[in-house]
Amino acid sequence: MRVLGIETSCDETGVGVFDGEQGLLAHAVYSQVEIHAKYGGVVPELASRDHVRKTLPLVRQVLDEAGLTKDAIDGVAFTAGPGLVGALLVGAAFGRSLAWAWGVPAIGVHHMEGHLLAPMLEEPAPAFPFIALLVSGGHTQLVAAEAIGRYRLLGESLDDAAGEAFDKTAKILALPYPGGPALARLAEQGDPRRYRFPRPMTGRPGLDFSFSGLKTFALNTLQREMARTDDPARTRADIARAFEDAVVDTLVIKCRQALRRGLGKRLVLAGGVSANRRLRARMDEMVAQEQGEVFYPRPAFCTDNGAMIACAGWHRLRADQTEPLAFKPRARWSLEELPPVDAAGAVGAAGAAGAAGAVGAVGAVGAAGTETE
Ligand code: KG4
Ligand code: ZN
Repeated sequence: MRVLGIETSCDETGVGVFDGEQGLLAHAVYSQVEIHAKYGGVVPELASRDHVRKTLPLVRQVLDEAGLTKDAIDGVAFTAGPGLVGALLVGAAFGRSLAWAWGVPAIGVHHMEGHLLAPMLEEPAPAFPFIALLVSGGHTQLVAAEAIGRYRLLGESLDDAAGEAFDKTAKILALPYPGGPALARLAEQGDPRRYRFPRPMTGRPGLDFSFSGLKTFALNTLQREMARTDDPARTRADIARAFEDAVVDTLVIKCRQALRRGLGKRLVLAGGVSANRRLRARMDEMVAQEQGEVFYPRPAFCTDNGAMIACAGWHRLRADQTEPLAFKPRARWSLEELPPVDAAGAVGAAGAAGAAGAVGAVGAVGAAGTETE
């Protein structure tokens, strides 16, 4: 079965084609970063309008790059939520209508399930059960994943998501949107010993997070230090480093606690922030100490993309789950509400096979905008 995936939940238009036997055949991402940069953040109305312009041309491009015609597509997956409703409506309306016109089934995919399954596009793919840390612009969640669609929330952010905290702190440091990668780059030049930021909620046993205090801490530090520094560029870099270290440490501490809960020793990281190099390095160290295993998607599949939606959609369509013609995009949607997919052997080999070669050959459009580190 070959599935076309369409992602339009925020500021990236992503399209991919996933084949159950050959893995990922092609994918492309168009980033709207230039449109939103001058506003310092995503403008939902502009996002929707641009998805309208980009979605169908990107579908045609990806089919061409895969050497396929519409007749080779057995199902269409689109992101149905959570996300910006106007943006979701574009991909959902295109995706549902394409499937109807082509006479194939459609499925609305949960965006965070797409992220959670993105490591399945890599080799080796993680086997269930595992613990997933989902760290994106809108969510920070620790999830016990027993199988596809069997997810239990272990903890989540009570306020800002990790990516949101990166973006807001980047703004405080006068860095351009999108802030996360820009802050990570500035932090490279920072001195880790100059400032120490708190590690919020790590002193207590639960697995929830709180990141909004860190941006206030960054703001207060910046205002205090700028009044007395003779090297403002260096001070900004040191603050960026202290902030990044605090977020990374906090995520690592909570993942260690989760791994010690007896739910197995496999950890999966996904979502935009999982592209962060320091986070990966520190997580690798921790998981080695815990004698576990950690799995990440390649950086291009950490951030939003159509490949992960095609892959998640494939798992559900092959289990005969489908979307009615009257589909319903959802701004909010819990992973725990998803129906399970219990088809034996639904996960694994098929996801990884052939993916690397196909992606390398196809690449992504809008490279500058999709670069994450
Ligand atoms: O998963 P994603 O592409 O979109 C959402 O579903 O939200 O995540 C985007 C988030 C943004 O907040 C962005 O700043 C952050 O991921 N991000 C990073 C890095 N790359 C992307 N944060 C820190 N370091 C990075 N290298
Ligand atoms: Zn995302």
